[in-house]
Amino acid sequence: MSNSALPRRVVVTGATGKLGRAVVTHLRAVGVDVLAVDRAGGRDPRDVDGEFLLVDLTDYGQVVEAFTGGADEHAGGVDAVVHLAAVPAPGLMSNATTFANNSAATYNVFAAARAAGIKRVVWASSETVLGLPFDTPPPYAPVDEEYAPRPESTYSLNKALEEEMARHFCRWDPELVMVGLRFSNVMDVEDYAPFPSFDADPQLRRWNLWGYIDARDGAQAVERALAHDQPGADVFVIANADTVMSRSSASLMAEVYPGVEIRKDLGEHETLLSIDKARRVLGYEPRHSWRDHV
Ligand SMILES: NC(=O)c1ccc[n+]([C@@H]2O[C@H](COP(=O)([O-])OP(=O)(O)OC[C@H]3O[C@@H](n4cnc5c(N)ncnc54)[C@H](O)[C@@H]3O)[C@@H](O)[C@H]2O)c1
Repeated sequence: MSNSALPRRVVVTGATGKLGRAVVTHLRAVGVDVLAVDRAGGRDPRDVDGEFLLVDLTDYGQVVEAFTGGADEHAGGVDAVVHLAAVPAPGLMSNATTFANNSAATYNVFAAARAAGIKRVVWASSETVLGLPFDTPPPYAPVDEEYAPRPESTYSLNKALEEEMARHFCRWDPELVMVGLRFSNVMDVEDYAPFPSFDADPQLRRWNLWGYIDARDGAQAVERALAHDQPGADVFVIANADTVMSRSSASLMAEVYPGVEIRKDLGEHETLLSIDKARRVLGYEPRHSWRDHV
């Protein structure tokens, strides 16, 4: 596991979003100076409490200004970037709109970080690149980072291209550290109430192999990724240690994906989105479970 000190000042994009709010709260709690940016919200402390700048990331000039401390009242450059802003799922906006927004925002963030001399970038990739919604069964389970991305939507295609783009930015700059976090489905505590009902129909949540990520554990993964100091681009699946189901992971796979090879002895509720690499390399260890709240 590679670890170094956390960066002093970090810009978080998508800061008023579901994951962004948890990440900003967590990073500030561990002493990181956060510049929160988003194109929405911000004046209301319920959105984000603390330093905030309204930025449309599809405008490169705004991104450069944010990253270099050029904006009035937001002086001081940043040491690292956490890029979470995106249209966060397929089907929310037209495919072309999703692609145009997400690809432009991410290119601008990566390029502005390079222009500003920032050497650490952590960004939100997605579990979707593993082949969600698994209409084509996964190659094996638990799924992990060892097979090539299998995007099945425009949203996911863009996430896969971002991972490729990061590899090239790192080829251009041998000092650059870029960490892509392939988050599972993000949950707040108030989302957990219906979880016990999922058991009635194993098909209901097979689309992501019954995975999820508690936003607070997602924030912990971001903190761990910010401390990662191995130059180059790398990606990690980030999920909770268990599934959303009460029945066993082995029985779910046997019923829904009977032909899929199971590559390890599965714990009773063990995640089928492998977090072994994140545990090993980043020191990520989920602290929460929906079972503690329902
Ligand atoms: N929610 C999930 O289940 C999930 C799963 C895997 C990955 N992700 C990824 O995690 C990240 C955060 O997702 P979330 O659930 O918090 O989504 P969210 O919609 O709650 O937050 C995303 C934020 O990005 C902002 N944004 C979008 N385009 C922007 C732009 N051009 N300029 C500035 N801000 C912009 C939005 O205003 C919003 O506040 C996204 O990259 C998403 O793709 C989410």
